[in-house]
Amino acid sequence: IIVILDFGSQYSELIARRIRETQVYSEVLSYRTTAEQIQEIAPKGIILSGGPSSVYGDRAPHCDPKIWSLGIPILGVCYGMQLMVQQLGGGVEQSERGEYGKASLVIDDPTDLLTNVNDGTTMWMSHGDSVTHLPDGFEVLAHTDNTPSAAIAHHEKKLYGVQFHPEVVHSIGGQALIRNFVYHICNCEPTWTTAAFVEQATREIRAKVGDKRVLLALSGGVDSSTLAFLLHQAIGDKLTCMFIDQGFMRKLEPERLIKLFHEQFHIPVQYVNARDRFLAAIAGVTDPEEKRKRIGHEFISVFEEESKRLGPFDYLAQGTLYPDVIESADTNVDPKTGDRVAVKIKSHHNVGGLPKDLRFKLVEPLRKLFKDEVRRVGTSIGLPDEIIKRHPFPGPGLAIRILGEVTEERLDILRDADLIVRQEINRNGVYNDFWQAFAVLLPIRSVGVMGDQRTYAYPIVLRFVSSEDGMTADWSRAPYDLLETISNRIVNEVKGVNRVVYDITSKPPGTIEWE
Ligand code: XMP
Repeated sequence: IIVILDFGSQYSELIARRIRETQVYSEVLSYRTTAEQIQEIAPKGIILSGGPSSVYGDRAPHCDPKIWSLGIPILGVCYGMQLMVQQLGGGVEQSERGEYGKASLVIDDPTDLLTNVNDGTTMWMSHGDSVTHLPDGFEVLAHTDNTPSAAIAHHEKKLYGVQFHPEVVHSIGGQALIRNFVYHICNCEPTWTTAAFVEQATREIRAKVGDKRVLLALSGGVDSSTLAFLLHQAIGDKLTCMFIDQGFMRKLEPERLIKLFHEQFHIPVQYVNARDRFLAAIAGVTDPEEKRKRIGHEFISVFEEESKRLGPFDYLAQGTLYPDVIESADTNVDPKTGDRVAVKIKSHHNVGGLPKDLRFKLVEPLRKLFKDEVRRVGTSIGLPDEIIKRHPFPGPGLAIRILGEVTEERLDILRDADLIVRQEINRNGVYNDFWQAFAVLLPIRSVGVMGDQRTYAYPIVLRFVSSEDGMTADWSRAPYDLLETISNRIVNEVKGVNRVVYDITSKPPGTIEWE
């Protein structure tokens, strides 16, 4: 394992991902982790992330200075390097010109950390402060026009620093550098593979659960489906999958999901039809947060009743992923104050909010994985692309894609429009070109003309976006022909709609969903 100490960089997770791409397991920890705690984990290497602070700022986050003498190789990235220099007696100052964007790296020592990194390669810089003089025993490995110490090393102590960000895709030699650190400097073996994960997870599930019963709430997404597969493989019929139909899924999806699990995977699923309850719970509600809250509460009540009916269960299986674990560890830092912050934009519901008398023990076999790793695991254990590559779909479903009040009539209209979007995207073979592509129904009406008739009906918004992780997104430049076909079909085939518009807002400032 390689541990990453996080100083509030937006790239910390990305570093972990790059390390894992070398098939070495890696975890992000708070910068406050002590040298003793690190010693207990016994990592083969430590990476210090970048961060928004300045090392000489009042509230700059510092790591435990004892880490320098643990004898474990350390790589400091950007802020991490500046901190290393400062704590070991070198100097860091605000530079006259900051350096942002691509820079050409001139290599002074092509061995060690920079083996196989080409002279003149592009690296991505983003810093206002620079190292002015190095601590004793350090040497310069590379420089750029603007930065005399772009990469540094204390060879003997295996302490390294880079001013650039090797983890971002724009850094051409970045992955070679990371491999050098991981394999040659830390002597790690490439053992973190999908097969190894499945084997280990299966063993751990069996050891933890034994012959106890486990409940799993299936949503049809890649996480809960992979989870169901893993658990079914590990404990067979000790697992009960429950699917709660809120009535806010896309057209035909609940039926397809149940069929797929029953017929193809031979995993029985308890289907709970709660459509009327959910619709009643949000009848007349127009405020988006209130809608989400009520759907969340209703979900928990239904879940509680049904799990009592089907139970008792000892464990609840949850599809918690690694980013959820890091996020809930509260790793955001406000760049101005240095305070840790977690900003809530929308409340996302899950079964975390269960009442105390229904406290399950949790099984969370995916908690070490990133989303792309879950997909790989899913593929390796036989999940079809239909599930693996499914676009993300929000828990409250279509209820937050109908702005304002949700009624049965509006749900029918949106389901039909949404089905046309999916059909046309699939027909054109471009489903995987989008992060998400869906329809939204606006609760207003506009005037149109069809045949010789004046119409007065709802507009449908098409929301197609590209994104890496859903945190930021760009509106997709979908082909006009595709948009035209979708628009024609929706207006002609869906009663109650007479206009189709395309959303050209990126995130930020917009969010992907409309509520
Ligand atoms: P926003 O709209 O915040 O969405 O830009 C970012 C991503 O999250 C999904 N999303 C949700 N997922 N429960 C979920 O499980 C929710 O309540 C929820 N709200 C938004 C959204 O589809 C997008 O992928």
